[in-house]
Order: sequence, then structure tokens, then C-alpha cells
Amino acid sequence: MAAHETRLIVVGSGLAGLYAAIAAAGRGLPVTLVTKDRLRDSNTWYAQGGISAVAPVPLAAPGDSVGSHVEDTLRAGAFAGDEAAVRALCSEAWEHCARLIGHGVDFDRHAADPERYALGLEGAHRHPRILHHRGDATGRGIASALIAVVRRLAARGRIELREHAFVTDLLVEPASTPGPPGGTRDDAAAPSLRGVVGPGSVTGVRLADDGGAPHGRPRGGSRSLHGRVLLATGGIGRLYPHTTNPAGATGDGAALALRAGRRLGVALDLADAEFVQFHPTLWRPEGGPPLMITEAVRGEGAYLRNRRGERFMPGRHPEAELAPRDIVARAIHAERARTGAVYLDARHLAGRGLAARFPTIAAALGGQGLDLERDLVPVAEAQHYWMGGIATDLAGRTALPGLWAAGETACTGVHGANRLASNSLLEALVFAWRAVADIAAPSPASTAGLAGDVAAADSSPLRSTGTGTAPCPGVNAAVPGHPGAVPAAGGWEDLHAITGTYLAVERDEPGLARAQAGLAAMEAALLAERDDAWPRDRYELLNAVQVAHRIAVAARRRTESIGAHHRSDARPADPAAPAVPTAADTPASRA
Ligand code: SIN
Repeated sequence: MAAHETRLIVVGSGLAGLYAAIAAAGRGLPVTLVTKDRLRDSNTWYAQGGISAVAPVPLAAPGDSVGSHVEDTLRAGAFAGDEAAVRALCSEAWEHCARLIGHGVDFDRHAADPERYALGLEGAHRHPRILHHRGDATGRGIASALIAVVRRLAARGRIELREHAFVTDLLVEPASTPGPPGGTRDDAAAPSLRGVVGPGSVTGVRLADDGGAPHGRPRGGSRSLHGRVLLATGGIGRLYPHTTNPAGATGDGAALALRAGRRLGVALDLADAEFVQFHPTLWRPEGGPPLMITEAVRGEGAYLRNRRGERFMPGRHPEAELAPRDIVARAIHAERARTGAVYLDARHLAGRGLAARFPTIAAALGGQGLDLERDLVPVAEAQHYWMGGIATDLAGRTALPGLWAAGETACTGVHGANRLASNSLLEALVFAWRAVADIAAPSPASTAGLAGDVAAADSSPLRSTGTGTAPCPGVNAAVPGHPGAVPAAGGWEDLHAITGTYLAVERDEPGLARAQAGLAAMEAALLAERDDAWPRDRYELLNAVQVAHRIAVAARRRTESIGAHHRSDARPADPAAPAVPTAADTPASRA
């Protein structure tokens, strides 16, 4: 049997990718971890708030339970989430946090009782249940512990590492290609991977090594790596002009899956693509890098004020500054437009040790002469997270045989229309683990076709996508009320001009039509321009444009407002429905 038939290729080195690679190595699977930058270059590294998990009694906060975490997750997601996925997420949370602790992650302990973990509170959680590391350096703490494990396993030959290697496309074997009936199955004597590598499937990745110079021509061209593929490429922040994400968040995985689906003739669309989350509090200092200010600062009691000094959240939602994130982000957007600015105000918390609780933030503010306990900090909403992604079932399987996805690039349905704070690291753990378990499961003995393999092996459905729904209305060449021509091709500024204007926190049909037209033109122009010597940066732009295009299409299709997808021209809400979900409005209380 060829070695490639049992290799797992994990693409991406955020939490989902690192954890998947470790899990695969633990199961004795040959695994290659591919990342386009360094291992640490991911959204995970920058996560501040933490990871939500209900600890077993007596470590959990009084009154908290897995059921309460489930309800908070569904409620924050505007009840658009998949309940089975949410139950899996919340009930498996502690087991994975315990595993992280076993890998050396040092979560903060209670000062007065070191036997207990210090649990943070964030928006829309009814109980403190957020584990954190060194206050606001949670992502860095988790990622560095796992990177150390990955490097140890790599030194022992149990993980093959490929850093600065960019996946330009997935390899596919179209169903029309002649091949062995039912594909080439795993040899029973080798570590077994689910599924087949054969006609009609993803069979690996095409890699370009840019040596860390994303604007240059790939060194040594591109090469092919064969095996099952788990996409764990993270988010889409760079699609937007303002984001909490690092520059590498270009939607690569979703675009790779889209292109592979097209080549395989599979109608793969992205699920929930219209649901883009904006974090309420990005600080954008003049002349310095932007910094997200974790929601946990509001969890400690900080207020939001407009330029007139007024607190504006209490009038908008019963949970005020700790309302679900989409509601706070929209309120900030509106108050910035109305009064000119919004500030985070923690001055009334002076003397309560904020600098020790949030050392990263305190140091960054201090570098610009600001002090959280003394000064108002100007903040604005900024793209933060994507609830949409490649539709997967609860085992991480996509619609394409041979391809799994986990983490932010996947859409398991746990986040619904708006993700609950600190559920993203958790989702990466739970579903990366599940995907690896599925990939490692023995292949069914049947020699049925690929589609049969995937469908029969697990009855959990894929998160539904836009596929099969009514086509979008035609694109208007000129849209009244929206100035300026959308460029047909170009660079990141052109993309940002579209996303920042038409795909932001407030949307409407004319703007979405303009976005769809502009993005379709950019996508076509980039596809026509592509050649073998394309630098990584151009592929990243193509990936970002293709994903933004699907966001525009999905947003246009959904004519109502829900969660993070807010349309100023939405049809009027059902008068029987509550205007905003409240803490009392949980599935349990409504039952
Ligand atoms: C934050 O710390 O405010 C962000 C955490 C998250 O996005 O879950």
C-alpha cells in the first residue's frame, strides 16, 4: 500500500490544527501538519478572553451546569444553532480542557483558593465559566503549550511539519477518472483511515513553499502531497478593513473547498455564510497596531459610553454591556454614527487590580499613555469571527469525500447566527478531536461508492447550506442610492471598500446587490489572471474574494434580520416574537 493512502494532512496551525495533529499522532496515524507561516501565526495566539467550559462540581460556579451553557449558546445564537451540535460542544468541553491541562496549559487559579480555577464572565453567559491563562493571554498560553507538544512529536518523527508551505489548491480525483471500483481502500494491516482515496474525492493538497516571502514567486514551484485532508485554516478577518484577526486570516480553507467542489462537480456551498461576527471593542490607536479589548473587561464591570458621556446599553438590552455580542456591536456602530465616538470606561473599577487581570491590554494601553483605571479608551466594532464556513456533520465530514474541516473554517452549526463569547476555542477542540476520531475509524467493509460511504457511516446531517435554495435576484449594474462604481479587479483595498461598506453590521438589498456584482467581477478577473507563478498573496486575495462573494450571496438570500446578519430593509419582525432574546427566553423556559 502506498504511504499516501493512510496519511492525514492537517492544514492550519491554530488550535484546531495543533490539537488534531496531536490527536492523530496519539492514534498512531501518519500526520503532516502544514501551515503557511510559523506554527504560532494564528487567531488562536491572540485569543484573550478564554475558553468556556462547565467544570465538574465542585469546580464549577454555583448554579452552573452543562444545560445552562447549552441554553446560553443557543440564545446568543438567536436560536439558529444546531442543538445536537451545541450539546456535543458543551458536554464534551471539560474533557478537552482537562486534556489541555495535561498538555501543560496553566489556567489561572483562584487567588483565595488555588484548588479552584478563576472563572471569567463574558457577554450572554449567565454564569462565570471562562477559563483563562495569565489574565488575557489565554490563546498564547494554549498555543505555546500545544506547539511544544507538536515539536516534541515532530522530533520523534510522529508528526511531519511543513511551515511556510501554502496550500494553493486541493487535489481531487474527479468521478469520471477511471480508477479501481470504489476507490483504493486502506490495507487492513496499516493504521486505518476512514473512507477511500479514489474517484470523486479529495486526494491531497498542492503545496507551494514561499520561504516566508508571501509576495514572491513560490520557491521551487509547487508539489503534491497525498492523503486525507483536514482543513483547519481559521477565519476570514482580512476580508474586512478592520478586524481583530492577524493578516493570515484570509478564508483559505473555505475557498479551497469551494474550488475543489466545483472541480468534482459537487454542489458545495458554504453554510451560514452571512453570519459574520463583529467584536464590539477594538481599540485603534493612531500610529500603533489595533488591539482587541476582551469582553471580559466588561465582564468585570466596565461600561460603554458615547461621546456625550452617556451609557447607551442599559436602554437597549436588559443585560446592558453584557448583551449578546451582535447587539452590543450594532449599538456601538449606531452610537459612533450618532455621537461621533464610543469609549470603554473602567474608571469606576480603579483599585480592583485590572492591570493584573488584563496585563496584555494594560501594557499596550500604557505604551500609548493610557491607563484602563484612569482613562476612557476609544473603541469601535471590528470583524472578529465567522459563524459560517464549510458545512460539516458532527464528525467534521464535509460534502467532499476525503475532506474534513474543523475550527473556524468549518460550520458545525454550534454558533447559530451569533457566537457566544469564548466558544470558539472550545469548538476547535471538540470538533478537531471528533474529526480525527472519525478519520481514524476503521473503513466500512462495504465497497459501496464514496457517497454511500460517507452517508451511511454516520446519520448526523451536514449543516445545511444555501445549495438548493432559490437563486439570488439578478445583479443590478447600477444601484440607486449607492455611490461609486465597484472595481472589477484589483487588490485588498478594492475588496475592503466592498466589505466595509456593504457586508458590515448593517446591510440592505441595494448594497448587497452591489457587493455581489463587484465581488463576482473581482473573482472572475482573479481566476483569469492566475498562473503557476502566482505569489501566495494573490492566492490569498482570491480566497478572500471567493469567500466574500459567498457571504454577499447568502446575505442577499436571507431577507430577515437575525443575530449578526442585520438588514435595515428587513421585513417587519413577527409581532408575537420578543424584540430581543433575554435571559428568561431560553428553550427550557419556553418549553
Ligand atoms: C474576547 O475576549 O472578547 C473575545 C473572546 C471570543 O471571541 O470568544
